[in-house]
Amino acid sequence: MSTAIVKHSQVGLNGTIQVPGDKSISHRAVMFGAIAEGTTTVEGFLPGEDCLSTISCFRKLGVSIEQTEDKVTIEGKGWDGLTEPSEILDVGNSGTTTRLMLGILATRPFHSVIIGDDSIAKRPMARVTEPLRSMGSDIDGRQNGNYTPLSIRGGATKGIKFQSKVASAQVKSAILLAGLQSEGVTSVSEPALSRDHTERMLEAYGVEVKRDGLTVSVEGGQSLKAQHIVVPGDISSAAFFLVAAAIVPNSNITIEGVGMNPTRSGIIDVLLNMGATMTIQNERVVGGEPIADITISTSALKGIEIGGDLIPRLIDEIPVIAVLATQAEGKTVIRDAEELKVKETNRIDTVVSELSKLGAKIQATDDGMIIEGPSSLKGTSVSSFGDHRIGMALAIAGLITDGDVQIGRSDAIAVSYPNFFEHIKQLQQDK
Ligand code: S3P
Repeated sequence: MSTAIVKHSQVGLNGTIQVPGDKSISHRAVMFGAIAEGTTTVEGFLPGEDCLSTISCFRKLGVSIEQTEDKVTIEGKGWDGLTEPSEILDVGNSGTTTRLMLGILATRPFHSVIIGDDSIAKRPMARVTEPLRSMGSDIDGRQNGNYTPLSIRGGATKGIKFQSKVASAQVKSAILLAGLQSEGVTSVSEPALSRDHTERMLEAYGVEVKRDGLTVSVEGGQSLKAQHIVVPGDISSAAFFLVAAAIVPNSNITIEGVGMNPTRSGIIDVLLNMGATMTIQNERVVGGEPIADITISTSALKGIEIGGDLIPRLIDEIPVIAVLATQAEGKTVIRDAEELKVKETNRIDTVVSELSKLGAKIQATDDGMIIEGPSSLKGTSVSSFGDHRIGMALAIAGLITDGDVQIGRSDAIAVSYPNFFEHIKQLQQDK
């Protein structure tokens, strides 16, 4: 198991980087290309472990996929081009692969088995398997289909009207994907708007998607046409460096080509509300997704309250927002974020325990956490617990601790940001 040592940054962070491709969009580009008719090409693909798991699963489903670094070519043969896998589909650490692939397999007339790592084995799947079963798909797994290993025999499914209890793009996407090959109309309503990459990309692949407030619907019997997809930089990866520049003295960095989809850009709202010195330039649209260049420098920050509809817009950024809050004047309260408990780790527990070890004044609540700042952090041994975003949040904290931070299980970072440590080095060298 790998341990990374992060030293207090002796210099400010300066220069320009482009963060790797968006993880959510990379997964979808490959999956939709696999069920589309024709050759799909993807540029800016994230070659992180999660997205490589998606490629590996769809290869096992009979799709020919070539990948070199951030370029991918997928030879789609339509929905019927998917064939019964002779091997188990291993999703590794990836919840998005598991849930979206379940939606696709739910309508395929063959048997398949999904497994993943120890973290996947603890993540709730009933939120997807229950509605897919009610559409007519035959799915089973541990604890009545709530946990992997899962076995799926897809079949003739009927559209449903589904009211999701959680604002989850994975749930919404799985049901809509099944709906595309089901009888009649399928609609999904959610309590708050979750990321809408599926809706945007399905439209790009020629699917008709109806949106009405918090409800999305699709008509069954729709096929996808191959596309050229350009993946924007992942705002969830950019978030680590936005926070780093805001808290490391003498910093001024620019991150180019960052995805600014409004269902994902809650971190920008938080930074601005906390008082960060930040400018957004060069706003443009690439492949149906808004992108921009963001410049940010060391900032005087104040604590804020974060909750409600903002939560789904920044759910993956909360670990690093907690680090940011340790350096803000006053109290930061994060509420309505129970979903943190079912991510790669229970992120309320892991953020609070590891930041406490570094000396942060942080306290867990039922639905989030409360952080009192500013506090001076000290280096010690912590762990990512195999959660990429916990590992990276702790590394960013390590740039301002007194003494080194040793991060156990740092290999997890490759799940979404394989060149994370190179980018830290680059920003420390640029002037
Ligand atoms: C994702 C949706 C979110 C997010 C995850 C990626 C997606 O999960 O946390 O990292 O690509 O659809 P939920 O849909 O479970 O909220």
